[in-house]
Amino acid sequence: MKSITVGITGASGSVYAQSLLIKLNESPDVSRIDLVLSQAGVRVVGEELGLSVAGAGDRVVRELLGTDSDKVIVHRVSDIGATIASGSYLSDAMIIVPCSMGSLAFIAAGITRDLVHRAADVMLKESRPLILVPRETPLNAIHLENMLKLVRLGVRIIPAMPSFYHHPQTIGDLIEHFTHRLLDHLGVGHEQATRWEGSKPKG
Ligand SMILES: Cc1cc2nc3c(=O)[nH]c(=O)nc-3n(C[C@H](O)[C@H](O)[C@H](O)COP(=O)(O)O)c2cc1C
Repeated sequence: MKSITVGITGASGSVYAQSLLIKLNESPDVSRIDLVLSQAGVRVVGEELGLSVAGAGDRVVRELLGTDSDKVIVHRVSDIGATIASGSYLSDAMIIVPCSMGSLAFIAAGITRDLVHRAADVMLKESRPLILVPRETPLNAIHLENMLKLVRLGVRIIPAMPSFYHHPQTIGDLIEHFTHRLLDHLGVGHEQATRWEGSKPKG
């Protein structure tokens, strides 16, 4: 049974976070989900999903997942005394989805001014899996240098880039396929994934 920390920051793509949270909550492999949203994350979730997720507690869980869950613990981003701020609290992996270039820069610089950055810094210092799902375009040299620095520290960078080789028919198909890739990287099992089985060369 896994314990996963999920950070949501203020990049576009909050629907990926919602989709991932729903699947983690449904997974029998996951026993606990620690969730923290940055202030900008709260704003973008409001803009993109039309949901009101400020603060902490069960109301935020209901808004994002559409149901209650005793697996999900929501932390306030200002609460630097939260469990996930300490290396003695065992989290099997942390994912920040979506990850803004701002948060990515803070983490790359080792600056921990809120709970999202502190929890990520803890994963780095404890050598535990950290996955960032950045979304920005175009990328400047600062963004790229920060990503390279983090990759060299063992962080997995999985840009929010949907794929088309599985012939998606709807936006939901794109989101679902990408969410399954995130679950693969978190080591959380799921059976519905469409997996590439190879193709014959054309012509
Ligand atoms: C609607 C909206 C969409 C945004 N999209 C992005 C984005 O895709 N990538 C990004 O790096 N920043 C984006 N931003 C800007 C970040 O939210 C901003 O840099 C913020 O300070 C990031 O703070 P955080 O990392 O603490 O969440 C967006 C902001 C808004 C309001």
